[in-house]
Amino acid sequence: MEGTVDRSRLTDLMRRETQRFVQDHPKSGELFEQGKRSLLAGVPMPWMTEWAGPYPVFVAEAEGARFTDVDGHTYIDFCLGDTGAMTGHAPKEAVEAIARQSARGITTMLPTEDSIWVGREMARRFGLPYWQFCLTATDANRFTIRLAREITKRPRILVFNWCYHGSVDETISTLEHGAQRARPGNIGAPVDPSLTTRVVEFNDVDQLEKALAHEDVACVLAEPALTNIGIVLPDPGFHDALRRLTREYGSYLVIDETHCICAGPGGATRAWGLEPDFLTIGKPLASGVPAACYGMSEEVAARVNAAMAEMPTTDVGGVGGTLSGNALSLAAMRATLENVLTDGAFDRMIALGERWTDGVKRVIQDHGFGWEVQRLGCRAEYWFCAQPPRTGGEAAAADDHELARFTHLFALNRGILLTPFHNMALMSPATTEQDVDAHTEVFAQTAGALART
Ligand SMILES: Cc1ncc(COP(=O)(O)O)c(C=O)c1O
Repeated sequence: MEGTVDRSRLTDLMRRETQRFVQDHPKSGELFEQGKRSLLAGVPMPWMTEWAGPYPVFVAEAEGARFTDVDGHTYIDFCLGDTGAMTGHAPKEAVEAIARQSARGITTMLPTEDSIWVGREMARRFGLPYWQFCLTATDANRFTIRLAREITKRPRILVFNWCYHGSVDETISTLEHGAQRARPGNIGAPVDPSLTTRVVEFNDVDQLEKALAHEDVACVLAEPALTNIGIVLPDPGFHDALRRLTREYGSYLVIDETHCICAGPGGATRAWGLEPDFLTIGKPLASGVPAACYGMSEEVAARVNAAMAEMPTTDVGGVGGTLSGNALSLAAMRATLENVLTDGAFDRMIALGERWTDGVKRVIQDHGFGWEVQRLGCRAEYWFCAQPPRTGGEAAAADDHELARFTHLFALNRGILLTPFHNMALMSPATTEQDVDAHTEVFAQTAGALART
């Protein structure tokens, strides 16, 4: 029947795609077996086993919007290291700067001139005057939470249900039937997360106000739109309410732009005129070299400086990192911001995001599936439900793991890599219209295979 997916057919199709994958990827399979002898789960990190095939493809090399695996297959990469390679792989200007700086010293625990250029550029893009550097977005969030706690003397933070902000203890908590608990898969939680965290649904202003009214929340840590449980966009007026309520109840607002930088050169903060107290970002800033940063307002900076002036040292108090702000990361960030993630690049990338969305929508309509497509700038994705979810809870409930694994594996077997865990595609400055159209064609084949009776 048009518009529905026959589950036994899906099982057969998945079996066929898995066989094809194994046949086409013998060398990756061999390396995975070798990996099991020295690596936990056979891979550098256990989540690498969660790709749609029975084992991950091992990468030989990557350039621009493509990578080649050890079996010699080339893929159009719409995952782009889940935003770590949003610049495209190995962009020339960044690679040259990385090589230059590597030859001139990588880390000294002393500042380099590039840090001043990057600090100014971040201020220009995001509107916050003061910046600090670290290596991952996780650390940027962790350090920001500590600073917010320090200057407010409040114990808790607030996050939105099914958010993801990295491996930050306080954020790994979700709601189940309205009650807060450790997120499924939370490994070795240090304490019950309800001691450190309040969780409410995105777009729910009433819940938000009730939670903030306890006046024990140091900061709200929020993505402008949820992007890690699929794209969940804010309702009109939601950000105004969030800003008004955080001010009213004395909580700082931390905006995490790590993924929402896809909305434009100044992320959603600039595109939507947000006014955060802190801003965090990592992943693509240095074209894949580990680099992240966090910015703060004049008022926050004054309070942080005053708090630190009272401390015997700022070295061992939980905000730090020996390699933070190293010369290589800063040189790579400067080259990336100056030459790769430019205003012009975003114009092209966002137009490609629109093209991707239009193509996928057309296919969905042609087959009468009750699915939706959502987009934020140059990031887009399809949902297996008729209405785009408004909250993290709705988004989690709409997940169709079995179907998603099939669409991912079908695409992978035909030279297209999507972001794992949801149906997301990201455009880089190196992505072309032909790449987008190749995805649309493969998506049409996927839909055709599922719809055939
Ligand atoms: C919004 C957001 N913030 C922070 C992070 C953490 O980034 P990293 O794993 O590079 O520390 C992620 C990772 O997916 C993210 O999506």
